[in-house]
Amino acid sequence: MITEKPVSSSADQVLRQIEKAAEKEFLPIVGPHKGKILAEEVRKAKSRHVLEVGTLIGYSAILMGKALDESAEIVTIEIHREEAEIAGENILKANIPPKVKIITGDAIVVIPTLDGPFDFAFIDAEKSEYFQYLSLAEDKLRKGAVVVADNAGIFADQMRDYLDYVRNSGKYQSRYVQVGGDGLEISVKL
Ligand SMILES: C[S@@+](CC[C@H](N)C(=O)[O-])C[C@H]1O[C@@H](n2cnc3c(N)ncnc32)[C@H](O)[C@@H]1O
Repeated sequence: MITEKPVSSSADQVLRQIEKAAEKEFLPIVGPHKGKILAEEVRKAKSRHVLEVGTLIGYSAILMGKALDESAEIVTIEIHREEAEIAGENILKANIPPKVKIITGDAIVVIPTLDGPFDFAFIDAEKSEYFQYLSLAEDKLRKGAVVVADNAGIFADQMRDYLDYVRNSGKYQSRYVQVGGDGLEISVKL
């Protein structure tokens, strides 16, 4: 009898390596549990043009990229050059279908220079700046675009202006999805 081992893709291997490193070095990656929901949202939205704020070493970009095809593009912004370089190496190794453009710089400066429209955004950088990122990106988000914000549970106090806006401005339909002790705020632009 021939038994076949499940084939794990290069992306899966890179994700597992980053998860191990993250545990050892306390890297604040989105992680596999919230990551599963993020990947489902990006897949459901059939996203073609994705904006990510906060690349770190590429974990969430790879997770999202795995759920997309080669017609998609991910633009991801990271303020620290060293992290952006490691992200570049990880993303190359992961060999995901979409094109990924890593921009090194402060998202507050970079977002106004980007060409939209985006149909998906993942916000996961400085918690007190989430509202600024969204305000700067808002005109570049297509109607129906999905915006996922990480740490809406543990850092809710630091992102209060953001959460008030997506929940109460009437411009988004927003829900909080709890995962363990934290959660994602998932908002659809109306
Ligand atoms: C929580 S980590 C991102 C984790 C990543 N999304 C993941 O799940 O693998 C936050 C990242 O945002 C970056 N960052 C913080 N403020 C930023 C800013 N204003 N512009 C761009 N990146 C920023 C930090 O350097 C850090 O690498």
